This record gives sequence, structure tokens and C-alpha cells, in this order.
Amino acid sequence: MGKEGKSFRIGVIEGDGIGPEIVREAVRVLNQAAARFDVSLEYVPMVMGGCSIDRYGIPLTEETIAQAKTCDAVLMGSIGGDPAVSPWYQLEPSKRPEAGLLGIRKALGLFANLRFSVLYEDLKDACPLREDIAQEGIDFVILRELTGGLYFGEKKTETVNGEARATDVLAYSESEIRRIAVKAFDSAMLRRKKLTLVDKANVLESSRLWRKVVGEMAKEYPEVSVDYMYVDNAAMQLIRRPSQFDVILTENMFGDILSDEASMVTGSIGMQPSASLAEGRFGLYEPSHGSAPDIAGQDKANPLATILSAACMLRYSLGLEEAADAIEKAVIEAIGKVRTADLKTDGDGTKLVGCTEMGQYVARLIGGEK
Ligand code: IPM
Ligand code: MG
Repeated sequence: MGKEGKSFRIGVIEGDGIGPEIVREAVRVLNQAAARFDVSLEYVPMVMGGCSIDRYGIPLTEETIAQAKTCDAVLMGSIGGDPAVSPWYQLEPSKRPEAGLLGIRKALGLFANLRFSVLYEDLKDACPLREDIAQEGIDFVILRELTGGLYFGEKKTETVNGEARATDVLAYSESEIRRIAVKAFDSAMLRRKKLTLVDKANVLESSRLWRKVVGEMAKEYPEVSVDYMYVDNAAMQLIRRPSQFDVILTENMFGDILSDEASMVTGSIGMQPSASLAEGRFGLYEPSHGSAPDIAGQDKANPLATILSAACMLRYSLGLEEAADAIEKAVIEAIGKVRTADLKTDGDGTKLVGCTEMGQYVARLIGGEK
């Protein structure tokens, strides 16, 4: 094992909606893995999002940023509420829960977001794609640029010629593209050595810069086969033949959209973990899905994306590969036996369970119990 006795500080942001319940299960599983692999994890509770608005009037405080910086990694549930009913959405956009998430990504330099889509053998029946397509297998990762582009560009609404006019600037510099492209090429080298840059280079100037930078870098990675795909085509290909993808590299907004689509092809958005990485080892780990306020507090949420995100945390930030593998193995075994409602199909032979029971089941498997 070689990591015995190590200790790590984990920042924990439970967040809003189903956040607290899914994080509780991920922590349960982490504790089990920590015990088995003899590492000690110290949890540092932190607030962000709607619950931070309720307490401090803003979605992200300097204190939360400072606390996160003292940690080896941060595990997060989900933030936000239902805009139709939540008072958080009466606030101006820069004070809403989502601004906290964008703010913490920026403040911690989390420029590389990895979102994994794997269709597990046992979940093939939950995949909405035709059987012959699902049979080809799905196993790819989207590397989404996370601190640039439209979400962080200059924004304004003004009055021009007597009508409102709104602007969001989409800008990327070469170095911003290069630093995430390095992570994408490195990921490809550890996988099937195929990288697809998704852009809109037939229209957008920023996309043409992405192509130029990635094209130059491809020469430094002769083993990686690189291809280029327009985002509209990519949206189609993800459904037509997802087996063709290994590593998808793309800018912030395209990655936001495509990663939701990608999560669905693997059965449920409740299965997609993510890792948001800074330079070095630090990262923030959260499920790709949102806070699902409609089912919050009802013990119905699927905690697996958060549990799998915790496994990513062990792998990428703490260097605990074996513990990460153990969690992933337990998740795969669990879905063969028990499923939350989002994964359940009639006659799949599994037992319907809630969030807590799913977490307990996975934790028991890690502890070696059946
Ligand atoms: C995501 C979410 C966020 C994003 C929102 C909540 C700001 O959709 O993590 O994909 O767009 O990045
Ligand atoms: Mg999104």
C-alpha cells in the first residue's frame, strides 16, 4: 500500500437540495475506504451556495475560499434551488448560488474539469440508446475548460437604439488553452490515446485559436491521435456512436452542455462524477448533476456520482489509487444488486433502495462485507 498512516484534510461543502444527503453517503464510503487503507481523513465543513446566502447574504465568502486553500481537496454535493420558488433567485445574478460555484472555481484556479462517462455492464439496460449502440461500449472523459470563456467574459446589458442589448464575451488566451490541453493529452496517454477537440471553428474566432494551439501541441504527443469535431456534430455523434470517443477536450460552455448529454447516455446523470483540477494536485470534486430540490430530503437521490467523485478525489488529489479502485469496484458491484429510482428499470432484478441504503451498501462492500 505504501500510504499507511497518511493524513489528509478534506473540505466538505454539502450545499443545497440533495447536497447534504449525497455528501453524507460519500463521506460514509470514504470513511470505510480510509479505515481499510489506513489513512486518516479530517473533514473541514464549509458553506457555499444557497446556504451561504441564508447565513451570510452572499453565496461564497472569503472564509470559505481561505478554508479550501488549507485543504488537500474539497468534496462538494450540489448547490442551488428551484428558480421558480426559491428566494435566492430574487437576488441579482452575482449573488445567486451559481455565482458561488463559478467564484470558487475561479478563486481556486480549477481550470480543468474532468467528467467521466462510463456505461457499466450492469447498467446497459438503463442506457437510453439502442442496444447495438450500447453494446459497443461507452467509456470516455470530457475535459471541460472551467474558468474561462463565456461564463467569465465581460457581461453587460445596455440600452442601444431604445432597446435592451446584452453581451457576453467569449475570449481565450493561448496559455489558458494550453494548460488544459496538456491535461487532456496526458489523460489520453493514460487511456486509449485518442483526443477529440470539440469546437465551432467554422464560425468562432476563439475556436480557431483552440485548433491552432491543440494542433501545435499534437506534435509533442505523436502517440495520441487527434481529431477535430464541430460541437453540433459532436452533440449528434455522442448519441449516434459514443464508442468513438476517448478524451473530448472543449471550452467551458460546450463542455457544460455536452457533459449533461454525455451523462444521460450512460444511464443517468446520477452516475457522472467530476473532478475540477488546479495546477498541481488540488481539486474540487462534485457530481455533475444539480441539487434536485424536488426530491431533496426524501432519501431518493442517487449518491453514486458523489461517491465516484470521492473516488476521483482519492486518485487525483490524494494519490490513493488503490482506495479509489476499491470504491469504483464496490459501486459496480452495488448496481448489480441495488438501485435508486433513477437507475431502476422494470424486471432488472435489482432492489429499489434510497440514498442512505445505497451508501451503506457500497460502504459495506468496501469493508469486505456482502
Ligand atoms: C455545471 C453547472 C454549473 C455550470 C452551473 C450551476 C453554474 O451546470 O457544473 O455543469 O454551468 O458550470
Ligand atoms: Mg452544467
